[in-house]
Amino acid sequence: MFSSLAGTLVVLLSISSSVHAAAIPSNDNDVHDHAARSALPGLWYHDESHPAHALFRRQATTASSFPQVGSPTWASAYPAGTPVSSAMPQAWIDALNVAVQANKIPNIAPSVQNTPAANPVYNGVSATDPSVCSGSYGCRVPGDIYDAPAGVMGLGFDDGPLAPSDNLYAFLKQNEIKATHFYIGINIIANWNEFNTAFQTNQDDIAVHTWTHPYMTTLSNEDVVAQLGWTLQLIYNSTGGRLCRFWRPPYGDTDMRVSAIAKEVFGLTAIIWNQDTGDWALGTQGGPTTQSIQTNFQNWLSGPQTTGLIILEHELSDAAVQCFMAAYPLIKQYNWDLKSVASIDGKGAYQNAPDDTSSPVPIPLTAAGNGGAGLIAAMSTSTSTTPPPPSPTSSASSKQSAHPGSGVKTGGALGSKSSPIMLSVSTLALVFSLCLI
Ligand SMILES: *[C@@H]1O[C@H](CO)[C@@H](O)[C@H](O)[C@H]1NC(C)=O
Repeated sequence: MFSSLAGTLVVLLSISSSVHAAAIPSNDNDVHDHAARSALPGLWYHDESHPAHALFRRQATTASSFPQVGSPTWASAYPAGTPVSSAMPQAWIDALNVAVQANKIPNIAPSVQNTPAANPVYNGVSATDPSVCSGSYGCRVPGDIYDAPAGVMGLGFDDGPLAPSDNLYAFLKQNEIKATHFYIGINIIANWNEFNTAFQTNQDDIAVHTWTHPYMTTLSNEDVVAQLGWTLQLIYNSTGGRLCRFWRPPYGDTDMRVSAIAKEVFGLTAIIWNQDTGDWALGTQGGPTTQSIQTNFQNWLSGPQTTGLIILEHELSDAAVQCFMAAYPLIKQYNWDLKSVASIDGKGAYQNAPDDTSSPVPIPLTAAGNGGAGLIAAMSTSTSTTPPPPSPTSSASSKQSAHPGSGVKTGGALGSKSSPIMLSVSTLALVFSLCLI
């Protein structure tokens, strides 16, 4: 019990410090060459009929026209904590409504989490019923990705960018390894230097891991849209206009409804995994050790290659990063074709650009009647609605009390660059009052 409370406290403190970091970005060293990404791409990868085009198409697609990554203007345009669905662009809501009206979003009530960190449950229907298909119970939602092709190991890391990312990125670069980073929105705000390293220096693939790492199936349709939309918008505005193709649900917690929203509103496909290192729990009681993880890697990597591997790994701690580095020689030894997991279906990590260097292609408007006209009007200049002001005592923060403590994936929003000293008294009061409940 104590360790559970302590875990909760750690997570809450970390989240709160991210919130402050989000409001006060540092400004060191953001000298980079925007002109480098001006070449026209030779390829067009996008499914033009998808309504997601309309959500972002009129926004700028040259890097120089976006607020500079790391600048106060850039950071202050986004929610500091859990997004409030009433304060997001109307275009996203409209796109959701169009999908709902077209019967594309299964009408399932959000799941309920009775105990923090426990698998969410559904009222009156089994979580594994095909109409629900909860990922928390291992059900595979049709259309989502779980396996890599034969002989391929699809590489990805969750929860960054964070301080431990630095070592990981240096290792990846040194060994010429490409990876996908499933990023948490508020961690990008807090650790934009690492973000730039992944995108500009390593030219790795960027994907969505939601804005604040909730159990997505517990959220309303609108809150699901806000979690995905803000993260997409931030990545779009921080990569010269790239619209991600992939997302990963925190805890693997998706279902027919949530995956449909991601797909129908934003064109996102979920990438889950078929093996789990459990590296998020390193150092916790009952969690794995670096030795036990290495043994698992040995077993997975020496096993059959008829189904390729997608292994859940995190850039959440130095120890987790070390586990990947220790396993890397085995990946080579057993001749796995190691690739960024966003590249395994051959279409690339973005809906409107082949890679990190070619300019994104402006999206042509299709005639298809999917509500696109309304979306374009609403999204044509920029975000139309001002996000709520940063406040550690907003509903955003209190919702985070449901974030698990020890014994569960603490994958959450861990800001690495901000000092605990920045925590306000009110935040501490909130944290302690929540822990006493
Ligand atoms: C994204 O960038 C565009 C410029 O292309 C800007 O108008 C818009 O306000 C930015 N959105 C956010 C949320 O900062």
